[in-house]
Amino acid sequence: MNVNSSSALLTVPTGALQISDLSPADVETKAEVYFSLVIPTYKERDNIQNVVRVLTQTLDEYIPEDYELIIVDDDSPDLTWELAQSLTHEYPQLRVMRRQGERGLSSAVIRGWQVARGQVLGVIDGDLQHPPEVLTQLLSQISQGADMAVASRHVDGGGVSRWSAIRRFLSRGAQVLGLIILPGVLGRVSDPMSGYFMVRRSSIAGAILNPVGYKILLEVIGRGKIQKIAEVGYVFCERKEGESKVTWKQYVEYIHHLIRLRLSTGRLKHVNQLVANFPVGRFLRFGLVGLSGVFVDMAVLYLLSDPSTLGLPLTRSKIIAGEIAIFNNFLWNDAWTFADISARQQQWHQRLKRFLKFNAICLAGLMLNVLVLNVVFNFLIRNRYIANLIAIAIATIWNFWVNLKLSWRVTDVK
Ligand code: GDD
Ligand code: MN
Repeated sequence: MNVNSSSALLTVPTGALQISDLSPADVETKAEVYFSLVIPTYKERDNIQNVVRVLTQTLDEYIPEDYELIIVDDDSPDLTWELAQSLTHEYPQLRVMRRQGERGLSSAVIRGWQVARGQVLGVIDGDLQHPPEVLTQLLSQISQGADMAVASRHVDGGGVSRWSAIRRFLSRGAQVLGLIILPGVLGRVSDPMSGYFMVRRSSIAGAILNPVGYKILLEVIGRGKIQKIAEVGYVFCERKEGESKVTWKQYVEYIHHLIRLRLSTGRLKHVNQLVANFPVGRFLRFGLVGLSGVFVDMAVLYLLSDPSTLGLPLTRSKIIAGEIAIFNNFLWNDAWTFADISARQQQWHQRLKRFLKFNAICLAGLMLNVLVLNVVFNFLIRNRYIANLIAIAIATIWNFWVNLKLSWRVTDVK
């Protein structure tokens, strides 16, 4: 293979991680394209050829000549960058960057966007775990007016193919934590951990991005000026070659990132947006269902523990009454509050899964209830009934919000 006929490696930008508007020079010389897709790589030698081939096929059909692929490799010891560069004579729309100082997935993506000439900037993994055919759906969302289009595992048509229970649990736990620390960012998308998305350059131009670790989407939503976000379902495929670089370190970085974003984007903008988009009708239905649960709980407690009826011990009766009330609430929420979502997932194992999640979230809600009651009563308002009302209100919002985000969601592969 004649390496000399390949184009030169891209120069690595330095300085702030900031995307600028398209330069007038690029526009004038017609060097600009519609779409720039960055593929961050580290040790993807066995994947890279396939990735470039499949992406080219897909995009050649959809926007021929109007796109570029940018591989940003962090000086992989398996020489991914060198192999990638050798592909550039066969694929003229391919450009390759080899980073030697800086490292890390998120900054690699931004460095790639900094040299990009597209109006729309995207990212996709370099290991074929992100199905390329979803690209056209994402692009069509953008052309229909979205500022950002995210491939999501948690909307219709989405899922993970073979994840261990532990990985699912960690992924969900990370999402709940994020919803608590940064609701205005995490609450806007169903799959905030997605590394497969695209955004209009104009929505992020000028913002100084400062991501830690893997989760670049959070940073872009948190600091960009993004109005409309569209989501497209996708199934996260298994890796065929190479291995994932995710370790426990990524979880620590993620928490660090959440807190930093929280502190540095003190603006209320996102919270306002969240309030404006709050699903009021659903919340009212959820509240009514909750109220029906109170009556169920009372009635069962009476039947089981009242001396004039069964006269069972109080704690045992209360546990049973509580669980029956949870079951009651689940049925109503499934059939009414979230009817539109459950209609699309009618299978028994899907219902069971929703029920188990609902249970776990309500249980956490109960603990939150007790905690808030104690904090408010001991430190703020020394009236147990007002304190209890506040605790119930907070626990209800928790139950609603987390169930909305996690229980009545599409998570299965069709
Ligand atoms: N340049 C560069 N530098 N690329 C990297 C680095 C790095 O330090 N670390 C990983 N990559 C590349 C990999 O080569 C791959 O193309 C892509 O980034 C994703 O890395 P994986 O290690 O395969 O991640 P994953 O499959 O576990 O995680 C994926 O799923 C997450 C969803 O939970 C990624 O797509 C994440 O972006 C996504 O958030
Ligand atoms: Mn991967």
